[in-house]
Amino acid sequence: MPVNHYEVKNSYVKDIFKLDTPNTTYCIGIVDEGYVGHIYYGKKIEDPGIEHILRIDEMPWVPSKNNRDKSSFLDSFPMEFPTHGIGDYREDCLSVESSGGNFAVGLIYDSYEIINGKNKISGLPSTFGSDKDVTSLVIHCIDEPLKLSIDLIYSVFEDLDVITRSVKVTNNSKDSVFLKKIYSACLDMDNDDFVAVTLHGSWARERHMVESEVNRARVSIDSTRGESSHQMNPFLMIKNADATDESGEVYAMNFVYSGNFHASVAEDQFGQIRMLMGINSEDFKWKLREGDTFEAPEVVMVYSSFGTGHMTRTFHDLYRKHLIRSPYKDKKRPILINNWEATYFDFNEEKLISIAREASKLGIEMLVMDDGWFGHREDDNTSLGDWIVNEEKLKGGLKYLADEVNKLGMKFGIWFEPEMVSPLSDLYREHPDWAIAIPGRVPTLSRNQYVLDITREEVRDYVYESVAKVLRSANIEYVKWDMNRQLSDIGSVSLPKERMGELFHRYVLGVYDLQERLISEFPNLLLENCSGGGARFDPGMLFYGPQIWCSDDTDAVERLIIQEGTALVYPLSSMGAHVSDCPNHTVGRVTPFETRGHVALAGTFGYELDVTKIPKEDKDMIPSQTKMYHKYNDLVREGDYYRVASYSKNGQYDCYGVVSKDKKEALYTYVQVMMRPNYHSRKIKFKGLDPKRNYKIEGEDRTYTGEILMNAGYLVKNMWGDFKSCLIHIMEAD
Ligand code: GLA
Repeated sequence: MPVNHYEVKNSYVKDIFKLDTPNTTYCIGIVDEGYVGHIYYGKKIEDPGIEHILRIDEMPWVPSKNNRDKSSFLDSFPMEFPTHGIGDYREDCLSVESSGGNFAVGLIYDSYEIINGKNKISGLPSTFGSDKDVTSLVIHCIDEPLKLSIDLIYSVFEDLDVITRSVKVTNNSKDSVFLKKIYSACLDMDNDDFVAVTLHGSWARERHMVESEVNRARVSIDSTRGESSHQMNPFLMIKNADATDESGEVYAMNFVYSGNFHASVAEDQFGQIRMLMGINSEDFKWKLREGDTFEAPEVVMVYSSFGTGHMTRTFHDLYRKHLIRSPYKDKKRPILINNWEATYFDFNEEKLISIAREASKLGIEMLVMDDGWFGHREDDNTSLGDWIVNEEKLKGGLKYLADEVNKLGMKFGIWFEPEMVSPLSDLYREHPDWAIAIPGRVPTLSRNQYVLDITREEVRDYVYESVAKVLRSANIEYVKWDMNRQLSDIGSVSLPKERMGELFHRYVLGVYDLQERLISEFPNLLLENCSGGGARFDPGMLFYGPQIWCSDDTDAVERLIIQEGTALVYPLSSMGAHVSDCPNHTVGRVTPFETRGHVALAGTFGYELDVTKIPKEDKDMIPSQTKMYHKYNDLVREGDYYRVASYSKNGQYDCYGVVSKDKKEALYTYVQVMMRPNYHSRKIKFKGLDPKRNYKIEGEDRTYTGEILMNAGYLVKNMWGDFKSCLIHIMEAD
């Protein structure tokens, strides 16, 4: 059984809950006074007799024995879900504002339940699994004075080293209470020389890996922007300072949520650390009337004693099998060509059809019409909200265009930015109060647009219907759902003042509701999420669409760093990656067309250029690139990802690979970012192969054992020039 309960006799610890995954164990202890303590998370152990780890014998202040310094106990005891204002001065997970205006809340064990499978979290995305895949533990707790019931929910995956956590709070009192803060997960343990790894960035520079020492200065990441953000991803990992890709302990948390978040880790006065993750409490306040329940989003926790590589592959497997629902999740995605970098706003139906005609001859399978097809949108100053086809631009209308594209044997896709409104739009003229704003304050513009108040049902209905109407009008098989600005000036005319602190979270629930409606009505739609590039690259969005546009930066070299950070957590099958034209529109760099193709192969693969205009030698390469995609995509999409070398660390070259689950095939990508004069070839030690197997490398006659390729290495010849790349395709020898 993955979840077990043990009663402990003659001990301060009364109950132990032991949660086991294939390689890990998590232990919770209920103590005399009913506090829910965290005993252990780490390598798998069989024996549940580990209550000594709670250090009770060292504590002079255990309340049931000596209550004179209860706060000293509370301020050091490892808690599963620390609460505010009762004497634990470390960062906590839950605080309230009671009807009396007080902030304190406690959490005392009441009972437990073990459930086969996993319950849904209402209105929110979450991982899923059958009764065989997952077992859940619910620890029911109460705060007696406030009459709150607080459920700590843990789900344990049978085949993966994953434990998910979420929390549910119900108000059983006649008086309303406000939640001022509710995080979803906490992890208390000793500091074992940990460094934190987080994913930081900006527009066009998303998810660069950053390491920070874990000590008394808090490592804290967050978003207050209403989306998960370009700047910080809702992912926090700590690892031993000497951990590598294959060795050392790693603890990671990833938030299945697409809005404001907070995660942190800091050491306390006793050298213990506390790692937390949840909805950001800034600008958050949620009213619970009698009988109301609040469900906090899910945190996915992964522990690996085999270094970061195992953590990464665990996340990839979990998200591919137990989070992404799209019918495309195990399928090749059509190779698309998107007209954004090809034309920006300057296109008409003829231009698009000419791109499609040329593209169809080269093996490209879908045309995606990006921004600029609706209202009067000739630049980014107008028309968001008016989702009516501009028939002056697209003569014959959308159906004609989609049909013409279909006649070429290609699918047709379209861009939307449903959550937004331009001040210059019919929608805004008619409903100025539909934009998020504060009465009496002119809201801040961003990209000359406002955010629609999709916390309101009538606004959501309008948004949904205007998108769905377009989709019903033609054969549209793909949608790129964009979101190009962050939220500000938080105010809604429909929320009473005591509920204004609910707006940020209600906004995210609104996004999820819209996307759920979309995929329910159009179940075969390929949905790619996007937010000014990759500002909403999070597990929440993967519940609705199988892929997310990784970054507006399509430069092959920049992408090495962005894709490395992204692939640390998210599967390659989810990373939107395209070959674009050079000089690159974001950085001006010129890289070989071949390298751009090799780098895009690590993601969903597509094109973002004017195929009627690019140099002939580049265009001539497209048929072989599209073949390359078909040859390798099953492997890239479904295989195990291994990081061999990082350009972000060595400044010279990058190497990563994907190995099939049966270890019979592997594909390694090597990018020589900088040429080294007068050096020997580069020795690369592959990872993930079967040491005992014999392998062949495509294009060579000899065979190698896996052991040789991984331990002695393989020699990659120097290539003439910078930004050169090659693929190394390894297959089991007969
Ligand atoms: C965002 C997206 C781009 C493109 C533009 C259109 O920036 O990331 O790919 O769709 O919007 O305005």
